[in-house]
Amino acid sequence: MLAVEAVRVYKLYKGAEYAALNNVSIDVEAGKIFTLLGRNGAGKTTFVRICATQLAPTRGMVSVLGYDVLKETSKIRRLISVVPQEGRPLRALTPWDHVYNWLQIRGECRHDAKKKTEKILQKLELLDAKNVPAMNLSGGMKQKILVAMAMATDAQLLFLDEPTIGLDPVSRRQVWSAIRDWKNEGRSILLTTHYMDEAEMLSDNIVIIDGGRVIAEGDMRELRKIIPQNIKVDIAKDTVDIDMLRSYGSVIDTGAGTLRIFTFESTVKEISDFALKKNLAFRVSPITLDDVFVSLVGENQYLEDERPNASMSYNDNN
Ligand SMILES: Nc1ncnc2c1ncn2[C@@H]1O[C@H](COP(=O)(O)OP(=O)(O)OP(=O)(O)O)[C@@H](O)[C@H]1O
Ligand SMILES: [Mg+2]
Repeated sequence: MLAVEAVRVYKLYKGAEYAALNNVSIDVEAGKIFTLLGRNGAGKTTFVRICATQLAPTRGMVSVLGYDVLKETSKIRRLISVVPQEGRPLRALTPWDHVYNWLQIRGECRHDAKKKTEKILQKLELLDAKNVPAMNLSGGMKQKILVAMAMATDAQLLFLDEPTIGLDPVSRRQVWSAIRDWKNEGRSILLTTHYMDEAEMLSDNIVIIDGGRVIAEGDMRELRKIIPQNIKVDIAKDTVDIDMLRSYGSVIDTGAGTLRIFTFESTVKEISDFALKKNLAFRVSPITLDDVFVSLVGENQYLEDERPNASMSYNDNN
């Protein structure tokens, strides 16, 4: 069963020169955590809003939990829950008011609404602030109210559009734990995030979109293969001979005073001997989703035309 099936979705906003989504086809498996990644303006929120029945596609078909987004809107709305990007709680209402009233609006009886409100406020560490008006809470706490409202519901599919934006590291982990609980109950999640560690840790499947098109998709293992090497070495940029480094692997400028060599374990000793001899600081670490993302959508990152070939996971439908 698919939580979302999107077929050649095209969205051109009124007056816009370019399509926000350009024939995007995506399958979101039920019971899984699916993550959409992409640079600012890539089309993530547009896709989420279409699936959440807040926006109509210009062309294409989207079915959510088996229902058509254009023809069966009210059926879908009962089964989904959304944390919108840049949502804001109401100033005068407390965390308790937001969650408890929302559950009642969704048809929960008072007893269940109370129990569920308490549970989610506890999980997100909002219980001590449950009676404080939102206007007197911090930015992160306001964001957690929105997450609590969406995650307290009995919806089958949760849309989280950058849910952990502005949250401290401890609060982010609380949200991650709530997301995992949701999945463990057999329910589905469509997440967008700019935090690559978050995507790497939580996602069963990832799609990367760029300029409204799907450019890569797969699970972490599949996406990881887009960069053929398995190790990266960051080395102080100063007087390093770039041509020399290129003999070890692909080289990019990190923009933070270091050059990054994508290479294999077998070459690491040679590079570290070189760095030690030249008295240069260096760091060896595994390749992450962050590297894959930047290699696919970053501009001018490669010092030569060494951009890895993503054809293995390119979506041919586009
Ligand atoms: N209401 C709108 N009217 C016209 N154009 C819009 C509208 N909303 C978004 N766009 C445009 O559509 C494109 C995709 O925007 P979208 O908000 O979907 O991107 P995003 O991937 O969510 O970006 P971000 O990471 O910054 O949230 C952008 O070019 C944006 O300017
Ligand atoms: Mg967005």
